[in-house]
Amino acid sequence: MLVALTGTPGTGKSTAGELLRSGGWTVIELSDLVRQGKVSTVLDRERDSLEVDTDELDEVVRSSLPEGDAVLVGHLSHFLSVDLVIVLRCRPSVLADRLRSRGWSDRKIRENIEAEGCDVILVEAVDSDAEVAEIDTTHLSAEGTAAAIEEVLAGEREKYAVGHVDWSDEVMSWF
Ligand SMILES: Nc1ncnc2c1ncn2[C@@H]1O[C@H](COP(=O)(O)OP(=O)(O)OP(=O)(O)O)[C@@H](O)[C@H]1O
Ligand SMILES: [Mg+2]
Repeated sequence: MLVALTGTPGTGKSTAGELLRSGGWTVIELSDLVRQGKVSTVLDRERDSLEVDTDELDEVVRSSLPEGDAVLVGHLSHFLSVDLVIVLRCRPSVLADRLRSRGWSDRKIRENIEAEGCDVILVEAVDSDAEVAEIDTTHLSAEGTAAAIEEVLAGEREKYAVGHVDWSDEVMSWF
């Protein structure tokens, strides 16, 4: 089974991915493939980010995958050919704190908490052909998040069904 572990930046994908790797899962951090120059990129100066062709990324991942199950970690992973997408979620105000402690600019924080508040990645994931689950990490430790992911990987779906996370109370307070 190929699994995408996705979510807005700062939701804890890489931290949880490392814990899954320690637990014996094959975990591929997509940003490593980009950093290693295995995928071509275009610099988006306006957004200060690297644009990646997800079709090319898909090809590169497929050609470098070992046999068996694997978890693909990254905020573009839900665009790849996977069987299951796990979306990590975080309440925007808490996400803002996490991004601030990484030293991110106010503009980048704003852009990302808006995306989280409007379910951008969840909606993109639901638009794919894969099964989707979402995990609210707001009150979870990194270990708790990894444990919830393991539950989904073990087949739990109802507890993490799409639609149980809702930031509309907080989003409405922005207006
Ligand atoms: N469950 C958690 N609770 C609180 N803080 C967390 C949790 N998981 C990760 N963090 C912290 O939040 C920050 C972002 O975590 P991480 O780098 O894993 O996010 P990410 O989703 O991989 O982000 P990116 O998309 O930018 O790679 C880190 O400083 C990390 O220590
Ligand atoms: Mg990461």
